[in-house]
Amino acid sequence: MPFTVISPNEITSNPFSMLHQQWALVTARSPQGANPMTVSWGGVGIIWNKPVATIYIRPQRYTHQLLEEEDTFTISFYPESCRDALKLCGSKSGREMDKAAAAGLTPVEQDGFCFYEEAELVLCCKKIYKDTIKPEGFLSPDIAGNYPAKDYHDIYLGEIVQVLKKA
Ligand SMILES: Cc1cc2nc3c(=O)[nH]c(=O)nc-3n(C[C@H](O)[C@H](O)[C@H](O)COP(=O)(O)O)c2cc1C
Repeated sequence: MPFTVISPNEITSNPFSMLHQQWALVTARSPQGANPMTVSWGGVGIIWNKPVATIYIRPQRYTHQLLEEEDTFTISFYPESCRDALKLCGSKSGREMDKAAAAGLTPVEQDGFCFYEEAELVLCCKKIYKDTIKPEGFLSPDIAGNYPAKDYHDIYLGEIVQVLKKA
């Protein structure tokens, strides 16, 4: 296995560019194995004295259904050479196809966490909190424009229980 365990404190990449420019895959276990979904919104930080990752998932995603069924998920980051794979995982649904196979990603399962061999960095997360974005909470007038279909994101906080870095 070409990954080593590091502490969250040893992550040196910029969290803004890692998500917004590099993108990431949120992967949850599925009856077929695992399903990768591209995300570019999210964050990492500390709450309740735990290192956490936050993801925002719209209710119509297959990933949303899987996250409701599973206790864990991963957030994994890839080199630029995987951009086409991430584009596919952000435009097709795992309800229709085995996205990992179509994208040429190699599934790995380690300690119950699903991710892909091509990853550079993997955050292994245990769900600890969920809430739903509520329009009555919008304090800036430009936010509602993200929801013409009123498909407000669910927020999942995952405790980062392990960080894996490509050796
Ligand atoms: C760059 C990029 C970022 C995305 N970020 C998110 C996100 O943060 N949350 C979300 O719900 N969907 C996001 N999406 C859309 C999903 O990746 C897309 O709808 C995907 O096909 C859902 O797959 P699934 O049905 O297999 O879960 C993003 C798509 C792209 C291309």
